[in-house]
Amino acid sequence: MEILHVSAECYPVAKAGGLGDVVGALPKYQNQFGHLAKVVMPMYQTKFLYENNFDTTHKGSFWMGPRFFDYTIIKETTNKLGFDLYLVDINGLLDREQVYGYDDDSERFTAFQIAVVDWLSKWNHQPDIVHVHDHQAGLIPFMMQHCYAYQHLAAIPTVLTIHNAQYQGWMSWDKSNYLPSFNSWEWGKLDWQNNINPLASAVKCALQVTTVSMSYLEEMRENANGLENLFEYEKGKCTGILNGIDDAVWDPAVDTYISPNFSVANLADGKLQSKKVLCSLFNLDIYKPLIVFIGRLVHEKAADLLPQVIYDAVYHMQGRMNFLILGSGDPSVEYALENMKQPLAGFYNSKIGYNEKLSHQMYAGADFLLMPSRVEPCGLNQMYAMRYGTIPIVRNTGGLRDTVVDYGDPNGYGILFNDATVGDITYSIHRALELYKQTKRLQKIRSAIMQIDNSWEKSAEAYISLYSSLQ
Ligand code: ADP
Ligand code: GLC
Repeated sequence: MEILHVSAECYPVAKAGGLGDVVGALPKYQNQFGHLAKVVMPMYQTKFLYENNFDTTHKGSFWMGPRFFDYTIIKETTNKLGFDLYLVDINGLLDREQVYGYDDDSERFTAFQIAVVDWLSKWNHQPDIVHVHDHQAGLIPFMMQHCYAYQHLAAIPTVLTIHNAQYQGWMSWDKSNYLPSFNSWEWGKLDWQNNINPLASAVKCALQVTTVSMSYLEEMRENANGLENLFEYEKGKCTGILNGIDDAVWDPAVDTYISPNFSVANLADGKLQSKKVLCSLFNLDIYKPLIVFIGRLVHEKAADLLPQVIYDAVYHMQGRMNFLILGSGDPSVEYALENMKQPLAGFYNSKIGYNEKLSHQMYAGADFLLMPSRVEPCGLNQMYAMRYGTIPIVRNTGGLRDTVVDYGDPNGYGILFNDATVGDITYSIHRALELYKQTKRLQKIRSAIMQIDNSWEKSAEAYISLYSSLQ
């Protein structure tokens, strides 16, 4: 089958979070099963762009409201990612350093989607599936079905994967002229609560909708940032397919970001050496359990609770643990985390920003990874942590619930708590300290979690059988 994935992120080209990891891995695994999966994404000004070679595949142009844009599709020449990678270059709009966060993001991603559909309409054959990811590609099924210039694409089956329903790409109706001329009787397929809602539109128009874990699929009917009813109406075409992890990239035995490398065979020493590296970088104590947080410092991740949790844990548990945080996001959380460095020196440290290498060093060197997320559609961090022998402390929600079993349960290996509150989180930290004291049990759990199979094979196959059902 030929599959075209459309996404705003794809690792290692450009990544802001787990969407990038998934779109950088899933097509590679689909190709290993003998399919032809391709990725198209915006051309940002990234290191990957400058360090690799590209050929021009197509040039075109379109109107977006009153503005006229030329676009160019370029293709990476070596297929080094394990799939064909196409980038959409739109001068002045997409070619920026960051993926998101600009005032004109609506214009940027609408233009990206028009360019993709326009390019697709010029292919001399049609792919078997167009697989769109999140709201930044959410208008594509509508455009393929209801924009006059592209209706000849209407028969191509479309699949939407929702990585996060919190973000929906809302646009006011006065931007409806951004879209290529469409059948206005169909306006309801763009609308949700009097706005153009690209994610809702994709849920309505795509032939199938998937989300990245079973539990999140159920939760969305009760908590989906205003789309709850839509998921209830459309439950018949929604499926949960748990993400995998790319175990070629996330493997402590060969990971080039960490030193020394280690595996189950030398795990005790490997983790100790990795912890030493981290502790010396951040002035922490290697003899204390090290609890880390890696991620976007946003409300969904309950990052706002971290400062209080860390203060409470350090003071009420007599500083028996160390904390290290890596992340960026909400400026007030960043500020609070920075300001704690001085008073909690020796117990806590943080690095504000995005740092791929440090994240790998932290998965390797930590004892525990904390994820108190209020919403977590799948979560990859907990799976990466386990692959590096780091025990996850996670809230019992979404994909965290589907991938972590509490150590109090039969064959359990992690720590689960129910509420995103300072009390519940600090109690879980207390449980982590208790587990840390039981050296033998700790080693056994570390060895077990490193061997859990969270690889992509199963999930890549699940997507393929979903596509087959649409042919
Ligand atoms: P989300 O996509 O909601 O942010 P996931 O758990 O699915 O959450 O994926 C997060 C990904 O982003 C992981 O690969 C994680 O290591 C990475 N990541 C998040 N924040 C940072 C950061 N500040 N520096 C490096 N990597 C980060
Ligand atoms: C989203 C979700 C995260 C998920 C990732 C990849 O960003 O927040 O839970 O793991 O997408 O699907």
